[in-house]
Amino acid sequence: MIELKNICKSFGNKDNRITVLDDLSICIDKGEMIAVMGKSGSGKTTLLNILAGIDFPDSGEYVFDGEIVKLNNAASGIRFRRNRIGVIVQHFALINDLTVSENIEVGLYESDYTSGQKRKAIKDTLKDLGIEDLKDKYPSKLSGGEKQRVAIGRAIVGRPKLLLCDEPTGALDSETEKEILKIFKRLNQMGATIVIVTHDKDVADICNRTIVLEKH
Ligand SMILES: Nc1ncnc2c1ncn2[C@@H]1O[C@H](COP(=O)(O)OP(=O)(O)O)[C@@H](O)[C@H]1O
Ligand SMILES: [Mg+2]
Repeated sequence: MIELKNICKSFGNKDNRITVLDDLSICIDKGEMIAVMGKSGSGKTTLLNILAGIDFPDSGEYVFDGEIVKLNNAASGIRFRRNRIGVIVQHFALINDLTVSENIEVGLYESDYTSGQKRKAIKDTLKDLGIEDLKDKYPSKLSGGEKQRVAIGRAIVGRPKLLLCDEPTGALDSETEKEILKIFKRLNQMGATIVIVTHDKDVADICNRTIVLEKH
């Protein structure tokens, strides 16, 4: 499904340059659940951002479903993600003055769903995640685990093929982490390909494969 070939990415200017990804090549098959591990600063978030089309490699090739991905600005990244990729971050990044339903709807802003399709997708997602009774609440009234469910809902409401998660359980206690991992496992069994950046061996253990990034 995904092929990264000889990806290089560095930041900074000529005098002060850090190479983060140096000739990285990875293949990801449809249906895999992959953990990405490595020291802080080893480029895990950078890798996820490149997969998401949020950031762009300096060189190398990114192939998604047989097509070369050529992106160079935010707008082309948004088009690329639409109906294809969902992103989940550690600190939820919910919008405080939107309700749970409205936060999930944010995941459909770029979609071409009709308003009826949107309503149904949001309803189904609330049900899938067991948060129907929270739909009219605001984020400030939710626990950490509930917030992360909403963030997962926002990422999956458009039924993406690929789910990218950056330390999605890093801010949760271990009980809540278990619940969230069950949700990821279920989404994976339903067909989503999942890449999870994590420091946590329990998270890596439920994945099929672990990629370890080296710090340069
Ligand atoms: N936009 C950026 N500008 C400059 N340096 C960056 C930028 N993004 C990441 N970096 C640097 O690249 C390195 C890798 O960052 P990151 O991918 O966030 O690592 P990780 O997620 O593994 O901790 C770090 O040294 C970080 O400071
Ligand atoms: Mg990171």
